[in-house]
Amino acid sequence: MSRTTIAKHFNAKYPAITDLRQKAKKRIPKFAFEYLDGGCNEEVNLKRNTTEIRDVQLRPNYLDTYHGASLKTELFGHVYDAPFGIAPVGLQGLMWPNAAEILAKSAFENNIPYVLSTVSTSSIERISEITEGRAWFQLYHPVENSMRNDMLKRAEAAQCPVLVLLCDSPSFGFRAKEIRNGLSMPPKMSLNNILQIFGKPNWALQTLKHGQPGFEVLKPYMPKGLDLKQLGIFMDQTFSKRMNMEKIAPIRDLWKGKIVLKGVATEADTEKAIQLGLDGIIVSNHGGRQLDAGESTIKPMTRISKKYGSQIKVMMDSGLRSGPDIARTMASGAQFTFLGRSFMYGVAALGRQGGDHTIALLKTQLQQVMEQIGCENIRDFPKFLISK
Ligand SMILES: Cc1cc2nc3c(=O)[nH]c(=O)nc-3n(C[C@H](O)[C@H](O)[C@H](O)COP(=O)(O)O)c2cc1C
Repeated sequence: MSRTTIAKHFNAKYPAITDLRQKAKKRIPKFAFEYLDGGCNEEVNLKRNTTEIRDVQLRPNYLDTYHGASLKTELFGHVYDAPFGIAPVGLQGLMWPNAAEILAKSAFENNIPYVLSTVSTSSIERISEITEGRAWFQLYHPVENSMRNDMLKRAEAAQCPVLVLLCDSPSFGFRAKEIRNGLSMPPKMSLNNILQIFGKPNWALQTLKHGQPGFEVLKPYMPKGLDLKQLGIFMDQTFSKRMNMEKIAPIRDLWKGKIVLKGVATEADTEKAIQLGLDGIIVSNHGGRQLDAGESTIKPMTRISKKYGSQIKVMMDSGLRSGPDIARTMASGAQFTFLGRSFMYGVAALGRQGGDHTIALLKTQLQQVMEQIGCENIRDFPKFLISK
């Protein structure tokens, strides 16, 4: 028996994502933690995501000859060091100062993809500099074509290889915790929120040091000196929310790189993505933040990958919290996975070390699963699935 190699930067004090979540909860103000952690309505879909992935079971082959595990995964012509990436998350700098930059740097140094959200707190240009043009960009579709074209030009100039179009947010998710905290888009600084900040001196100090986070991707399009209420109106008026084929088709013509549709939940939308000539889909329900009555992602992803996996790259996020979860998802037919909250828990818990540690933790756990079941390559995972 050989021991699984512990990946570099692994911090033995936090051997599970739940440890990072607990630490993050202690370190950041309640309104910021609840924004990160919560789902919509009664949080049924949020829980379903994690529980239904865990229903997937793998078969170990103990007596087969085994040569060791490789986590390397090819996607869109690039060989990544692991089959997972960092999902786009808005307002990252609110949860921990500089979180977007910290995660982008860790992703680059560990050779996994980082996806920058339109409403994150670092600019396309800055993230491109940190990742030497490797970061992906997630576009919230603007009402104005001129703004859309300008963002696409900026992403192209920043050498962004993959554009991610979001389709699962035709409405604002109804999130009770955010409504109670007044943390709509943008955040309101109520007395209650300010008192919570006083209770988290480390977060407050770091925020003071780095300055209040702003919407750096959107800055060029925002009128100067907006107060919070005007900023809310600006956001509401700027994005067109509901996606459709008429909005996606011209982007396919304009964008030379790869295009991935994120938020797909059905076979019908997968067929539309294929018709549009898109390169990939991410089966996602926004981490249970949009439709409480919806399916978890593992179920539609399994159906979709079986039917369409040879025509379009099928990826998945929502609910993954460990190496075994990544293994279960890949065994169910995904060609790549993404995680949102897990990485943000890591940074909120450990600051600068958070990105590297979370990657090391997931890689170490995933490698151990591969060694346990006798899987040598990521693409071989489906052979180990116990079909129901
Ligand atoms: C706090 C938060 C903010 C998010 N913001 C965005 C966003 O701006 N754009 C986007 O495409 N997805 C956004 N998402 C969804 C994530 O990209 C991803 O789909 C989700 O987090 C995956 O679920 P998980 O957190 O269970 O891993 C956000 C998720 C969270 C938790």
